[in-house]
Amino acid sequence: MESYLDEHERTHMCGELRESHIGDDVTLFGWVDGLRDLGGMVFVDLRDRSGLVQVRFDPEAEEAHEKADNLRNEWCIAIHGEVESRGDNINEEIPTGAVEIAAHDLHVFSEAETPPFPIRDEVDANERLRLKHRYLDLRRQPLQDALMTRSEVNQTTRDYLHDEDFVEVETPYLTRSTPEGARDYLVPSRLDAGQFYALPQSPQLFKQLLMVSGFDKYYQIVRCFRDEDLRADRQPEFTQIDIELSFATTEKVIDTCEGLVTSIFETAADIDLEPPFQRITYDEAMLRYGVDDPDLRFGLEIIDVSDEVADSEFRVFSGTVGDGGYVRGLCVPEGAEHFSRSDIDDLEEFVGIYGAKGLAWSKVEDDGWSGGIARFFDDEETAAINDAMGAESGDLLLFVADDEDVVCASLGHLREELADRLDLIDEGDHEICWITEMPLFEWDDDEERYLAVHHPFTSPRPEDLDTLEENPLEARAQAYDLVWNGHEIGGGSIRIHREDLQWTIFDLLDISEEEAEEKFGFLLEAFKYGPPPHGGIAFGIDRLVMLLTGTERIRDVIAFPKTQRAADLMCDAPSDVDEDQLEELHLSIRDDE
Ligand code: AMO
Ligand code: AMP
Repeated sequence: MESYLDEHERTHMCGELRESHIGDDVTLFGWVDGLRDLGGMVFVDLRDRSGLVQVRFDPEAEEAHEKADNLRNEWCIAIHGEVESRGDNINEEIPTGAVEIAAHDLHVFSEAETPPFPIRDEVDANERLRLKHRYLDLRRQPLQDALMTRSEVNQTTRDYLHDEDFVEVETPYLTRSTPEGARDYLVPSRLDAGQFYALPQSPQLFKQLLMVSGFDKYYQIVRCFRDEDLRADRQPEFTQIDIELSFATTEKVIDTCEGLVTSIFETAADIDLEPPFQRITYDEAMLRYGVDDPDLRFGLEIIDVSDEVADSEFRVFSGTVGDGGYVRGLCVPEGAEHFSRSDIDDLEEFVGIYGAKGLAWSKVEDDGWSGGIARFFDDEETAAINDAMGAESGDLLLFVADDEDVVCASLGHLREELADRLDLIDEGDHEICWITEMPLFEWDDDEERYLAVHHPFTSPRPEDLDTLEENPLEARAQAYDLVWNGHEIGGGSIRIHREDLQWTIFDLLDISEEEAEEKFGFLLEAFKYGPPPHGGIAFGIDRLVMLLTGTERIRDVIAFPKTQRAADLMCDAPSDVDEDQLEELHLSIRDDE
């Protein structure tokens, strides 16, 4: 027997119908989004991934009308009918609002039980319930739009990089530990008792090996796995646009990326970016914004007043500077009136989260300062500080005195908090910048050793090579992060391709020869065979799409995401496995945890 689909083809998507289609005969497939019976006429909102259109069943279309009367939300149906004008009854809320379909045929593909939550753009249903029925949650338009934007980003990436002569190469998922600094996801081997694969935290080593092989422009849209504590913009498995180029300078990588990112923003979100993007060194970013991923959509820059207060009568300030610390502050324009004493107490509590011991403040008036720490400063001192901070009458000054880490973290986050409270961010604005010249190493107090800020294959700047060993913390990396509206969306570096330099770095990182051979021996071995100079970058697609679609949760742009506890509530993963499977994998579960 012929099925309905053998005889009928979809002619249009619901959301594409406009006045220009009036008079056309259409066959539409979709889901019932809503039903109304008005004076004998049945109205059905029909939905597919392109949007909604209103379908009308008149009593004259007898059989179809009767069937329509029995429909329920979320049934999957086909309708056939003619596009008509809605005359004066235009529905301005939807793009198809000028037309409706006068249906004369209705076919039900399948019925639906009442869904556990309504399929609406705005839902207040519990997120766990929605994640459990993710396939239904994904019927909602905002999630459909997000996944379509994501598809657009992937396609644009492939088009752009293909045109630039990049080769797409897939690298393994069953591999060994890769050095991005997070915990690995491990997969036990059946054939080799007690041995494990690690899922890649990124294809870093493989892409470098591909450079040795001569694939001088590589890219891959690739899943990465990191077992780290999750936040709103992190998932345990996420996708990178991973890129590596041989014979590339920082300029070449940045140039390629600016072209790619501009093209993605334009196609996927209609946002015009204008390369070259602004570049800010890491040191400057920390000084002016307190963080290495600054939001440049508002000013409110941090100002250093250590020199101005070095001899101050206010011991908190002069003492800190005397001990080698810093005093920095923010000048909040017209903040004097805006912030009450209790607001300032609130802000003091806020900076406490980042280790600040207090938040000194004063209000600027026509004839000097008032309130807070004003009494400790004479006219000359206040004038000098006002001058440094660009303060004017009516402004509020806020200061933190501490070591560099605390001053940066507390004022950097306070700056963002104030922007939020004062509504300083224009959501339509887009500010993108490169952060360059990051430190190569950081000191880890717990482990009492240096750690690589990016990863151990990142090249130092040539001018820092001579002093690398005496002064590792001063060395700067040939690394770059791309930051958009305060979020790091990508990061990369020029790599080390000289074996001797790689050993120096391992040595500084306290990675023994044995450990290096064991973990990265294959890369070091490969570097014996004519490695080209190379460098690259990886962008986080999930984060990128999250920001492009204006959502604050990375889960909204991933079809089947994990919860904060890295669980998939729909298929109930992770889950128990059979005793037999464990046996086969040479594993047994300790029952002491
Ligand atoms: P990095 O570790 O900086 O670099 O990662 C690159 C980009 O990936 C995104 N990202 C994440 N997105 C979602 N969830 C996560 N858990 C997560 N972790 C990272 C971020 C980040 O900017 N191999 C190097 C790249 C290179 O040197 O070429 C790497 O992986 O947007
Ligand atoms: P105190 O003299 O300790 O009462 O502090 C006077 C003011 O200085 C209070 O507003 C404190 O919040 C502030 N203060 C104390 N320590 C610091 C600090 N390290 N940085 C900035 N302000 C501080």
